[in-house]
Order: sequence, then C-alpha cells, then structure tokens
Amino acid sequence: MNKKRSSGKPHRRELTPADHDLSADEIRSGLKSRFWKEIVCCRSVSSTNDIGLSLPLDDNREQTGIAIVADNQEKGRGRFARVWFSPPGLNIYLSIVLRPDLPPANAPYLTILAALASAAALYGETGIQVSIKWPNDLLMSGRKVGGILTEARTVQGVLTRAVIGIGINLNSGAALLPPEISGKATSVLIETGSTASRARVIASIMNEFEARYKKLQAIGVFPLVRELRPLLSCLGRKVVVMDGASKISGFVEDIDDEGRLVLLLPSGRRRTVGSGEIAETGDR
Ligand code: BTN
Repeated sequence: MNKKRSSGKPHRRELTPADHDLSADEIRSGLKSRFWKEIVCCRSVSSTNDIGLSLPLDDNREQTGIAIVADNQEKGRGRFARVWFSPPGLNIYLSIVLRPDLPPANAPYLTILAALASAAALYGETGIQVSIKWPNDLLMSGRKVGGILTEARTVQGVLTRAVIGIGINLNSGAALLPPEISGKATSVLIETGSTASRARVIASIMNEFEARYKKLQAIGVFPLVRELRPLLSCLGRKVVVMDGASKISGFVEDIDDEGRLVLLLPSGRRRTVGSGEIAETGDR
C-alpha cells in the first residue's frame, strides 16, 4: 500500500528528463499548436485521473488544457471501479484536464471525443482501423486495446472540470497481460509486432483531441456522431446493455444525434440508451 495515498492526496513522483524517455519536451515537440498550456510528466502516480482531479485550477477557462502523463500507475482504474492494467515503461496513461463550456449532462461527449481521437492517432501510427465498443472501449481485432474514463466535477450545475483519462496498451507483450484480461485484451505491439514511441502517440492523441474539441465547442456534437457511426462495433448487432441493476436487450439500429444507442427491443418498441456497458451477443 502506498503510504502517500493514505493521507488522501494522490501520489506523484515527477519524471526528470534524465531518468526516462517519456518527457514533456518530447511530447510538446509533436504538438501542432499552443492549445496545451501544461504537460505534467510523472514517473509514478496513483492514477493520472487522481492528479487531474486534484490539480489546483483557477476560474480561467483558457488555463486548460492540461495533460497529465505517467510512466506507471499504482492504482490505475477503469469504469465501474475496475483495475486498469498499468505496468511501467510500456503503455499510455494520459489524463486531459479541461474546463469545457458544456452542460454537465453533455460530459459523455468528451468520452466519445477521446475515443475518436485515440482511434485516429492509433490509425496514424499503425494503419489499423480501431473500432469503438460504445461508449468507451477501443478495439483492435475485436479485443480491447484501450479505454476512456471521464470524470467530471460540477459546482451549482456548472461543469467546472472534466478529466478525461485515456489508457492505451501500447508496448506490453502478450505474456504480460494478466490472465483475467488476456482473452479479451490486446496491445499495439501484439497487433503489429512493433513497439511504438509513447511520446509520439501521446502527442498525436492530443492533436486529434484538440481538433475535435474545437469543433465540439464551435459546432456541437454532430461531427463526432458522424465520425463515430462507422467505427461502432455494435451497430446492427444484438446487445445487452447493463447500467447498474438494469439490463436491456435489443438490436442496435443506430446512434442518435447525441451519440446514444437506439435499440430495437424484442417487443418492437424503440429505446434510446445514453449510458451503460454493452455485451455484444454476436448475433445480427
Ligand atoms: C475503461 O476502459 O474502463 C477505462 C480505462 C481508463 C484508463 C485510463 S489510464 C489513464 C487514466 N487514469 C486512470 O486511472 N484511468 C484512466
């Protein structure tokens, strides 16, 4: 158990350029603009999302985006409080901190945005088209290569902070995958046979993120939905959507203009679902 965590503060050890290849300068050299105000590179953290949630921010919207990157996470987490496999030196653990001009109910758009940005960056790096298991899983060859965990803070109904955590299995080989995920997970190394530069892929994700974020703020969610539709792994399939205690079975007809699943239920009625986790049954 990490002693610093027990004090309630997220644990963070800074990387120095001398002791690791993953440096803020290297990431910055791959960025296309000055949108990014700060890049914090850490050797070991509890979770980059914890750092993002605890960073002091002032009220200036322009102060963000901030990117937190770590070599290693001791308590990396996924959705539904699952453990996120976070070995040192190999994979991407990135959290983007923003103060978006969005109603809190639209925070899930940021998950879609991050999934699309990551898919585009991975395509640019590997030439492999990533599909998206709605709403937040990145798949290569039908196996999970990455995931997104968005956590938001609101004050009096205003979204004051969004932390969008992106985890990508980049350079971990098959032998390293824990047995509980080895049948369902993959990595870029497993899929391509080559290692990739973490700094280059992180910079590419940030560039892709920035372009889509600017569109979201200027035009709205429609361009994201249009980009998401052909990448969805569940379109035209039977799924079960689990959300807390509720379980809904249906056939995925489409996504609506807000990125929610449109399900055709066995009764013939339609139902729109905005959150949850899907299990694909494999049936069409
Ligand atoms: C999921 O698929 O359940 C989401 C996984 C999100 C993992 C990333 S790694 C960077 C950030 N820090 C965390 O602790 N989680 C997210």
